[in-house]
This record gives sequence, structure tokens and C-alpha cells, in this order.
Amino acid sequence: MKKIAVLTSGGDAPGMNAAIRAVVRKSIYHRLKIYGVRRGFVGLINREMHPMQLSSVADIIHRGGTILHTARSPEFLTKEGQKKAIEFLQEEKVEGIVIIGGDGSFRGARVLEEAGFNTVGVPATIDNDIPCTDFCIGFDTAVNTVTDAINKVRDTATSHERTYVIEVMGRNTGHIALIAGLAGGAESIIVPEAPFDLAEVCSRLMRGVQRGKLHSIILVAEGAASAMHVGDEIKRLTQLEVRVIILGHLQRGGTPTAFDRILASRLGAKAVDLLLEGQGDHAIGYCKGEIKAVPYDELFKNKKEFSWDDYQLASILAI
Ligand code: F6P
Repeated sequence: MKKIAVLTSGGDAPGMNAAIRAVVRKSIYHRLKIYGVRRGFVGLINREMHPMQLSSVADIIHRGGTILHTARSPEFLTKEGQKKAIEFLQEEKVEGIVIIGGDGSFRGARVLEEAGFNTVGVPATIDNDIPCTDFCIGFDTAVNTVTDAINKVRDTATSHERTYVIEVMGRNTGHIALIAGLAGGAESIIVPEAPFDLAEVCSRLMRGVQRGKLHSIILVAEGAASAMHVGDEIKRLTQLEVRVIILGHLQRGGTPTAFDRILASRLGAKAVDLLLEGQGDHAIGYCKGEIKAVPYDELFKNKKEFSWDDYQLASILAI
């Protein structure tokens, strides 16, 4: 293995830069030639790849976003797009590729595997919806961003004695809502994994009001319901003063937490180890304190478990 490439793909996640840095530096340490592909699979199709040196990744460990840029590539889903990318990699004599991204990116990696390239996936998505790992790069930072937002909203919510409905990302999962809701002490957490009843949400709210609560926070995962709709319904059913906030893409930005930087460094370095051993077709995960390689197949077959214990705990603590 002489020449490898690294790319970031799909929605960006804080800590992607730390992962790129780990891949580049670990490769150079092992005397591999390491190339960066711009804009994920789009860059493979458009032949946008450049050599990376130690200095290419200086001063990025603490930065959100990705210096390689990222994209979602509808063209790579077509046979023609895939052919262009494969021809480019063959001409460039790239032997292995580290793909930093989420589930969709690993499905893209599979296409390259089938064309004879070793690929290793590094899970990075704020949604934390990859089953092979307890944590994806970016999740911890996003949870901290949401928790910080809840803290700030609490101040104004208390002053005005209002109810706030806060919508968070997560695509069709509720991991961000659950963990940030637990950390932020939300009164109710609405997630796609669990059925919800707005009448029950409202009676919980009213019980709080009767006990003298000055404000309430309802966290809604984007995949469960629209916060606007939830807010309107709560207003209609309770006559309380309600405000709605959609946190949106700010959850994907910001300086990565120490946890995300360390996770990214470990996963990125391990990805290079795997390629050096001549192994591909795997993603690197962090499970119960251990870094391990998981075959893509296993990952595609399984669904990330929702933490029902935490869901129940959040509900008990918000009584
Ligand atoms: O997968 C990360 C994510 O931020 C999801 O939480 C969200 O649903 C989606 O990406 C938003 O995608 P886009 O950047 O294309 O708006």
C-alpha cells in the first residue's frame, strides 16, 4: 500500500478535521503518500485531489467543518458517475481510501470496494445513527451545542414564564433530542422512535404549571414532528404562551469537544492501520471503550439502538 486518499462526505460534523489530521499524519508516519479529495464523491468524479503534507493539517484539530469540503453526490448514485470516479482512482493508482461520513457515504464506499479498492469508513455524523459505534464523530459536540442552547433559552423562558418548543436535527432518529434533552432537563422529549401524544405532553405541562414551574422546555426531534405544529397545538390545548425555535444547521458547526477530537484521532489513525494491513470493507467503531473494525455488511444489516433506559430516565426526572 503506497498511495491512499481521504475524503469527507455527506453532512459535515464537528471533528471531521481532527479525523483528517489523524489520517494524514498517521499515513505520513508510515511513509504512505496521502491525498485529499475535495467535496467527497463529487471530487472523485471531477478529479479534484491533491497531495497532503504534515502542514496541510496544521491548526485544524479545533476547527469545525471540513477543510476538504463535503457534498451529497446524486451523480455518484448513477453508473456513469461511479465509472468516472473509478477510472480516476485507477489512473491515479490510489490503493486505499478513508471515507469519513455517515451511512450513505459507506454505501458509496461499497461501490469502490466492488471495483477493487480497499476502503475504510470513519463514522462522522451528528445524528449518531451508525450502528457499529456507540459514538459518531460530531454527536458529542452537537449535543453540547443543543444543551447550551437549552440553557440560554431557559433564562428567557423563566423571565417571561413561557413554554419553549425546540426542534433539533437527527434525520429520522432521536438520539440528539434524547441525550441533549436529558442533559438540559427538558420537560418532554419527542422522538421518532417513541409514539407521542400531545394531550399527554400538555397535561404534563399543566401539572408543572400547577406546581409553580416558571417555564417548560419541549425538545422535538426533526424526524418526529414539526416544532411549529407542536407549538401551535400546545398553544391551542393549554392557552400557555409558547415560542418555537428551530436550531437547524448551527448544530453542525462549532469547535469540536475534546471527546470528539480524541474519538476522531483514534478512529482516523485506526483506519490507516487497517489499510496498511491490506484490509478494507470495514468501518471503524468505538464500542464499550474499544476501537474496533466492523464489516460494512454488519453495519448495513443493523439499526442503531435507541437508548430506552435514557428515555425512561428523562421522563422520570422531568416528572
Ligand atoms: O445528517 C446530518 C443532518 O444534519 C441531519 O441531521 C439533517 O436532517 C440533514 O443532515 C440536513 O441536511 P442538509 O445539510 O442537506 O440540509
